[in-house]
Amino acid sequence: MPSIEVCLSPALFDVEKINKKTVVVIDVLRATTTICNAIANGASCVIPVISQAECEEYEQYKNHLLAAERKGEKVKGFKFGNSPFDYPEEVIKGKTLVLTTTNGTKAIRIVEDAKNLLIGSFINISALCNRISELNQDAILLCSGWKDEPCLEDSLFAGACIDKLETFALANDSAILAYNAYQVYKKDMFQAFTKCGHYSRLKTLVSEKELRFCASSDQVTVVPEYKNGKIKA
Ligand code: MLT
Repeated sequence: MPSIEVCLSPALFDVEKINKKTVVVIDVLRATTTICNAIANGASCVIPVISQAECEEYEQYKNHLLAAERKGEKVKGFKFGNSPFDYPEEVIKGKTLVLTTTNGTKAIRIVEDAKNLLIGSFINISALCNRISELNQDAILLCSGWKDEPCLEDSLFAGACIDKLETFALANDSAILAYNAYQVYKKDMFQAFTKCGHYSRLKTLVSEKELRFCASSDQVTVVPEYKNGKIKA
């Protein structure tokens, strides 16, 4: 029986562990939701980068959209930010999105050597869990958190995945914590989000519609996967 463990913050992550495991990066508010939506709307790929300078290096290429977020806001000088709604089909289809965010893209790069590195969010949860089951390997759910602190919304998503992955054994106490937190809040995920620190940060910056979208399950069926620097469907 494969097992599933949860890492509540990148600061707690041990890269030695990724060998032969499925790793899922989670940043439901909002980097991984944005990536899932961009790929579902036809992005040819997403390149996650750590710094704004690294992002700007792609300026020279055609068909590349450069996007940067810090503290929840679009960074001055960049045309695109980290809202899933920035990337409807008419904007993103056939384009490469080069994205840097405060925590999410950093977390992806920490585990970039994983054999199977998947991108998870509520909007693709069922497709994601089907793919984790299909791979049938031990899995690690890595929560991006906020500046190395665990955060509730990512932990709840990890718990929601565990709830679906019934045949996986729980491998650590963080998995038990996430699963039990999800049981407490599962009836109304948007309501749960309103208790999160990052919700407080975002509520004056983005629409409620966007935050509800991030809390809503199964809006898309893609499972973005990172390989050789690029995230593709
Ligand atoms: C992050 O990477 O920390 C975020 O996705 C922040 C945000 O834009 O909401």
